[in-house]
Amino acid sequence: MDSLMRAMVVMSVVICALSAMGSLPQLAEAKHAGITRRYTFNIVAKNIRRLCHAKPVATVNGQVPGPTLIAREGDRVLVKVVNNAQYNITIHWHGVRQLQSGWADGPAYVTQCPIQTGQTYVYNFTITGQRGTLLWHAHASWLRSTVYGAIVILPRRHVPFPFPTPHQDIPIIFGEWWNVDPEAVISQALQTGGAPNVSDSYTINGHPGPLYNCSAKDTFSLMVAPGKTYLLRLINAALNDELFFSIANHSLTVVEADAIYVKPFSTNVVVLAPGQTTNVLLTTKIQPPNASFLMSARPYATGPATFDNSTTAGILQYQTNLTSSSSSRSKFRLLSPSLPTINDTNFVTSFTQKLKSLANNQFPANVPQKVDKQFFFTVGLGTSPCPKNQTCQGPNGTKLTASINNVSFVLPSIAMLQTHFSGKLAGVYTTDFPNNPPFPFNYIGPPPNNTMVTSGTKAVVLKFNTSVEVVLQDTGILGAESHPLHLHGFNFFVMGQGFGNYDPSKDPAKFNLVDPMERNTVGVPSGGWVAIRFLADNPGVWLMHCHLEVHTSWGLKMAWVVMDGTLPNQKLPPPPSDLPKC
Ligand code: C2O
Repeated sequence: MDSLMRAMVVMSVVICALSAMGSLPQLAEAKHAGITRRYTFNIVAKNIRRLCHAKPVATVNGQVPGPTLIAREGDRVLVKVVNNAQYNITIHWHGVRQLQSGWADGPAYVTQCPIQTGQTYVYNFTITGQRGTLLWHAHASWLRSTVYGAIVILPRRHVPFPFPTPHQDIPIIFGEWWNVDPEAVISQALQTGGAPNVSDSYTINGHPGPLYNCSAKDTFSLMVAPGKTYLLRLINAALNDELFFSIANHSLTVVEADAIYVKPFSTNVVVLAPGQTTNVLLTTKIQPPNASFLMSARPYATGPATFDNSTTAGILQYQTNLTSSSSSRSKFRLLSPSLPTINDTNFVTSFTQKLKSLANNQFPANVPQKVDKQFFFTVGLGTSPCPKNQTCQGPNGTKLTASINNVSFVLPSIAMLQTHFSGKLAGVYTTDFPNNPPFPFNYIGPPPNNTMVTSGTKAVVLKFNTSVEVVLQDTGILGAESHPLHLHGFNFFVMGQGFGNYDPSKDPAKFNLVDPMERNTVGVPSGGWVAIRFLADNPGVWLMHCHLEVHTSWGLKMAWVVMDGTLPNQKLPPPPSDLPKC
């Protein structure tokens, strides 16, 4: 084991003791880069208690967050998922490119049927060309509220980070907790057409922290030594909320996002949308201060709906000296960070504009310079009619819904990827997803008279190696709102963004063709647009959706079907024999 891996393992043990998180991978060593790492994820119900409310929840191996998956770039990962819970489930390896391994991507009814109770499925994929932090989570209904964890991708052996080697490496995972069963929350909302109940707290590594009632002891605490550099792997695994994060009296240096190295910059506050990850360096003070420091997260929210307006916090503490007891420590002041206001879009814009790919010789940004196919997608909320003999709780008695180009996506009842592979699409999906909105309007102006959307299971088909540009335009139909769009199977480059309506004659001139951020999840600015590019070099069926889970449930998703190329290494392999059946 080299020192970094040892540090990770030691850290896992420490955190395990602190927060019941993290189990160790079985590390097989091999002479060459690219070993196989095996994990078993046992999906089991476990009674857990937060905020004085206990309830049984779905977990991996009884842990929330679940175990950290650790691999090196180039490694093959086999995760055997055994479903011993009452829910049908899948696991998604969010941000893992899944080159030619689409069967292991995970979204239910897109790349696989769910793993039913009593069944087993082995996810089999290789980490190629990525290093940094990602996350895994359940991808069926709202089960990811408790079924989630970190993915840590270390560089290949003997390849250093492009920043100072940290003393320790610590995942900081933000989650969201409901006192009631989130499955009941979303199923009731889909019934009534109203908005689902918001969560009761946010969590850091599973702990809500001291700012909630009946939670004082349920706090994540991080003990640090003075004068050292720590790598914090920030992961937003919350369902429905973008989050600001800050540590009192400490600045952070951002070095990586979505498993892509960035040009380092320092900041007091980080903003992360659900599905986004950001690695930051924390350099501790040389002199241990007589204070402890809250590290807090609370939402960035722009939409019309209510949201959980609460703050989760953990505590950063310094090891002072050997004689310092917890009683002397309790006399320390506890300092709080200051976070931007809830709807501080200016802060978010300036933060995201600082994110640029490292784009050097070793880690180039392969930005598509030309575009083969252009798409203009509106994203936002809308309504659908209330079924007869029912009263609905959406606007004017309708059902709330969400769409891309006015199509609210309906999941099929068998997996699209199987359908694609067999070539028998009839009755499962159609290939007529619109390239443009059905009719143009002032997208962020007053709502059009008709706010009703259509629904269907529609995909866009792309030839292998198509260079794709998508402009994602927020709509203000029910109020402008930031939407974190996540693309499965690819990273994309964030070419440009702006407010108001996208102008195809003026805006492309401002695109960054040199060092744009490369990532898998991007916030469509509230009342604005973002342009992304990706190369469709991965055959399969790939979901693109808003990572606010409530919007995904309402249909803010679509699928790309990428055809095989001509060479053997450009084809989707046949499905594994244990692929679950519907
Ligand atoms: Cu992180 Cu389709 O999800």
